[in-house]
Amino acid sequence: MTRSNDPDRLGIGYFFPAGKTNFVYSDEAARRVPEMRRGPLLELARTAEEVGFDSLFIADNWSGHQRVAEQFGHQSPAFHAPLLAMALLTATERIRVISTFHTTHHKPAHVARMGATLDAFSEGRWGWNIVTGFSADEAALFGEEFVDHDKRYEMASEFVDIVKRLWSEAEPIDVEGQYYRVKGRIKVPRPVQKPHPRLVSAGASEAGMAFAARHCDELVTLASSVEGLDKVGAKLSTLTQNNGRRVGLCPFSLTIIRDEDGRAQEEFDGLLKSLNVEATREIAADVLGSIESARSMFDKMGADEAAIAFGGGGSVLKLLGTPRQVAEQLIELKANASMSSILINFPLWSPQELRTFTKVLPYLREAGIWKHPSECDAA
Ligand SMILES: Cc1cc2nc3c(=O)[nH]c(=O)nc-3n(C[C@H](O)[C@H](O)[C@H](O)COP(=O)(O)O)c2cc1C
Repeated sequence: MTRSNDPDRLGIGYFFPAGKTNFVYSDEAARRVPEMRRGPLLELARTAEEVGFDSLFIADNWSGHQRVAEQFGHQSPAFHAPLLAMALLTATERIRVISTFHTTHHKPAHVARMGATLDAFSEGRWGWNIVTGFSADEAALFGEEFVDHDKRYEMASEFVDIVKRLWSEAEPIDVEGQYYRVKGRIKVPRPVQKPHPRLVSAGASEAGMAFAARHCDELVTLASSVEGLDKVGAKLSTLTQNNGRRVGLCPFSLTIIRDEDGRAQEEFDGLLKSLNVEATREIAADVLGSIESARSMFDKMGADEAAIAFGGGGSVLKLLGTPRQVAEQLIELKANASMSSILINFPLWSPQELRTFTKVLPYLREAGIWKHPSECDAA
C-alpha cells in the first residue's frame, strides 16, 4: 500500500467495498451505506484520491453459496475485482489500485495478460493481491478438487514465478513445472512498473508467510498490537534473511472517526447490536474453514459468541476515536512496531466517511510520518 521507498512514511490504503459490508456484518451498516453501483463507487474512488489515500484494495471471491449474507448485503454484491480495478483506474489520475486474482483457479498467462493490461493502461498504478482461495465451494465452481492448504501455496509460488517471467522476459519461455506448463510469450504491452507491479498477499500461516517472503512487496496482516506486528515482522525478517528482500507489513483496520469524544466507539458498538449472526456464520465457515488454528479457536466458542467475535472484527485493529486519537494510535504504532502502511476499512463507508480522514492527516504530517502522495511522486 506504500508508494514511496521512504521507510519513515506511513502508506495509507483504503479497503474498497467488496460488498455493502466487509467484516462488520451489521445489518444497520448495510442499510446505511450507499448502493453498490457505478455512480457511488466512482465517487468513492475519486474521494479517496482527493483525501490522499495511496491505494484502493479490492478483495474478491467467486462463489455465491453464502445466501443469507447475499440477501442482506454482507460481502455482497461484489463486482469482480480486475474489472472494477480497470473502472477505478480509469476514473482516477493518481491513486493505485490493488486487485485480487486467485492463483488456484486461473492459469498464469491469464493473470500475466490481465495484470499487464491493468498496469500499462493505468501507467503503473496497478498491484496484485495474490490469493490462493480458501473455499471448497469456490473450487467446485471451477470443477476442481479443493487443494490442500500448503499445496495451494506451492502451486501459487510456481504460478507467480511464471507470471513474473511472462512480464519481464523478452523472449519466449518454456516451463515444464510441477503444476503448470507454459510455452511462449504474452503480447505487449508489458507492465510499466519494474521489476514488476506491486505484489501483496495476506497469508498468515507458515506457508503463507514463506510465500510473501519469497514473492511479495507487502504482507497484509490481522495483527493489531505492537507485539503482534513485531512477531509477524520478526518472522518475515527471518524468512527474508537469505534472499535479501524487504517485505512491508500492513495491518488491516476497522475505522470510524468522529469529532466528539466517545462517539466513534458508540457508533461501532451500535453496529455490533445489529450483527447478522446467520450471515456471519456462513462467511466464518469459509474463512475459517481451511485455517486450522483459527478453526479450533472458533469451535471452542458457542455459535453466537463465535459469530460476534469474528463478524464484529474480533481482534482486528480498531481505529475508533476523534481525529487526534486515531492519529495518535497510528503514530504510536508506526514508532514502535514493524509497519510500513495501514489498510483502512470504514464499516460505514461513504464519501463523507472517507473525508473524516482528512482531519487525521495533518497530525501524521506533523509527526513526520506522512506526506501527500503527490509530494512523493514529485520527489
Ligand atoms: C485483509 C485481507 C484481505 C483478504 N482478501 C482476500 C481475498 O480477496 N480473497 C481471498 O480469497 N482471500 C483473501 N484473504 C485471505 C488470505 O489470502 C489468506 O487466505 C488468509 O489470510 C489465511 O492465510 P493462510 O492461507 O496463510 O492461512 C484476505 C485476508 C486478509 C487478512
